Amino acid sequence: MLTSSRRLSRRSTLKLIGGGAAAGALIRGFPAPAIAQGAPIRVGFMLPYSGTYASLGKNIDQAFRQLVAEHGDKLGGRPVEYVTVDDEAAPPKAPDNMTKLVSRDKVDVVVGTVHSGVQMAMVKIARENNTLMIIPNAGADAATRAMCAPGIFRTSFSNWQPCFPMGKVMADAGHKKVVSITWKYAAGEEMIAAFKEGFVKAGGSVEAELLVPFPEVEFQSYLTQIAEKKPDAVFTFFAGGGAVKFVKDYHAAGLRKSIPLYGAGFLTDGTLQAQGEAAEGIQTTLHYADDLDVAADKTFRAAYQKRYNAEPDVYSVQGYDAAALLAVGLDAAKGDTGARDTIVKAMQAAKINSPRGPISFSPAHNIVQNIYLREVRKGKNAFVRIAHEALADPATGCRLA
Ligand code: PHB
Repeated sequence: MLTSSRRLSRRSTLKLIGGGAAAGALIRGFPAPAIAQGAPIRVGFMLPYSGTYASLGKNIDQAFRQLVAEHGDKLGGRPVEYVTVDDEAAPPKAPDNMTKLVSRDKVDVVVGTVHSGVQMAMVKIARENNTLMIIPNAGADAATRAMCAPGIFRTSFSNWQPCFPMGKVMADAGHKKVVSITWKYAAGEEMIAAFKEGFVKAGGSVEAELLVPFPEVEFQSYLTQIAEKKPDAVFTFFAGGGAVKFVKDYHAAGLRKSIPLYGAGFLTDGTLQAQGEAAEGIQTTLHYADDLDVAADKTFRAAYQKRYNAEPDVYSVQGYDAAALLAVGLDAAKGDTGARDTIVKAMQAAKINSPRGPISFSPAHNIVQNIYLREVRKGKNAFVRIAHEALADPATGCRLA
């Protein structure tokens, strides 16, 4: 963490820089143009490009660039320049990484990140500096609840959104006593809490909540505890490399047949090739599936496969929509990044035909979207049904509206 004196001095430095620029424009005798002709929009990617979430960061980055390419390589009529920072999904490094993008590289918009703990440090700095920021994954509930801000938008989900509907899904499947297991950090704990809220409301009870230190993947002792407790089912959140290992270990421990495994859809998204047979039949809830009957998805998937020679996943869709949302804002302002009110108003009102289906934005600037029940069939997250249509986060404590 930055000390408070360093934070103060950063603020005063920013003030000085701002004053200096204005004085420079006056000395030259004419006001600085709002947009330097043809100057690129500077997009700062703060994403994990290494570690257990590396593939998530890469897919967000790739699909964002895909949309910009499909948009004539421009946003708001201006070319786009990228600055990338590998945040390593490491919260202690987050303040320095974010400060570098905002104060040193002076990007026009920050696109990031994946890990909820890293995100909260970014939200704090974005609020201090009035930074325009689009969250393309991290679900930290507070980012669009108590810590919401005019310049902060999210094109992914709040941790609550994909998990709350699973409570009813599992209760309807006849499960009464469930054990949960996840990583011990904000995303895992908030997702379990959301699932529990829905499950208890539907008459179920969570008998034990197992927590694994992040990003550890030694699951044996936890699997032994699950076998001993013999719950009706298990609900879990793991993602990326950790999800691959958990699903394989659960299968290898012989638990799949006796204790069905459910999860937030991250458990099986972008991971199925590596999980293979071990993932077949797992049911999850998420805002995407591999076979949606959505025209925009067919175009998106074909273009992504062609461009990257790889299958897109939910993270790609979230990155793609981050660029689509930014395009709406910057097109409305004709590329003038100084016209913040115009940008924010247009983004708030955006209605986008996303590959995941129709999306819009709540007054708290969090995405409103369908949550789908999916089942892994032949290596794909197959659509089963809509678990909750157009679900908005409760946005408790956000005073933007
Ligand atoms: C998070 O930390 O918010 C997070 C990370 C990976 C996911 C979902 C949420 O797949």
